Amino acid sequence: MPVPRVVHSVRQLRGDVADARSAGRTIGLVPTMGALHEGHLSLVKAAREQCDTTIVTIFVNPTQFGPHEDFDRYPRTMERDLQLLSQVGTDIVFAPDRPTIFPEGFSTYVEPPAVAQRWEGECRPGHFRGVTTVVLKLFNLVGADVAFFGQKDFQQARVIQCMVDDLAVPVSVRVCPTVRESDGLALSSRNRYLDDAQRSRALALWNSLLAAKQLVERGERQARSVCDRMRQRLIESGVDRIDYAALVDPVTLQPVERVQQRTVAIVAAVVGPTRLIDNLEIEPGPI
Ligand code: PAJ
Repeated sequence: MPVPRVVHSVRQLRGDVADARSAGRTIGLVPTMGALHEGHLSLVKAAREQCDTTIVTIFVNPTQFGPHEDFDRYPRTMERDLQLLSQVGTDIVFAPDRPTIFPEGFSTYVEPPAVAQRWEGECRPGHFRGVTTVVLKLFNLVGADVAFFGQKDFQQARVIQCMVDDLAVPVSVRVCPTVRESDGLALSSRNRYLDDAQRSRALALWNSLLAAKQLVERGERQARSVCDRMRQRLIESGVDRIDYAALVDPVTLQPVERVQQRTVAIVAAVVGPTRLIDNLEIEPGPI
């Protein structure tokens, strides 16, 4: 496996990308904020399979955190991240410092698309504006053929796909399945904030999604009944706050009233010090 070449400057990055391009290699990009886990690594593996050169970016993007969110305590584990990336094989790691991405005087932001309005957009004002801005900048810096994102952040993946379509960004977006612990908890860099008791309570998100899926598979079509069950599950498990539990159209992210076709159950809740999100695709079977 290649030991990744770690680059910090735009000049180095562009030089490396130009070399890869002139050798006729396709480029896969995996944007991350570090604190890597198997979820991130699954994206890197997909990039390796589908592209000749894999570039992983590690940048904890300040513009996507709200003023009272966890930017300062967000885990930064660069040494370990590089070890993990060497194990799965990564060609280049781009790890810019803050002024490289947001120099003095930076003032241009991407207004996120309509699919950013509800859910995370409502709970975390400004979040998607930070995400679209940094992701577009990374796309422009790297000029990748394909960029890889996780279904775990379902709304984020839709937001980025819409931005790419609307602004004709020359990159293909691929969305890879959510990687989970054996008991179903979705891997997240934020899981490391949880102690054992909180981790057990955090399973409520997955259990509420499973309950929704089961209900629909057994013939329930009223979204309201399904969402009530999800909430009930979350409350029973003792989550500290429910931000939302909804069934949405996978394309528009608008809530559905009846489950007629492929739908996505989405949930966001707070457990102890941590806000967690998860989602699950639901296909109504024949009744
Ligand atoms: P981060 O939370 O580090 O996630 C980087 C990528 O890993 C995202 O595409 C995310 O959806 C994916 N991911 C996280 N957990 C996953 C899991 N359990 N299974 C599969 N994929 C998973 O998302 C961000 O960073 C940032 O918003 C970013 C896009 C880098 C912009 O700053």
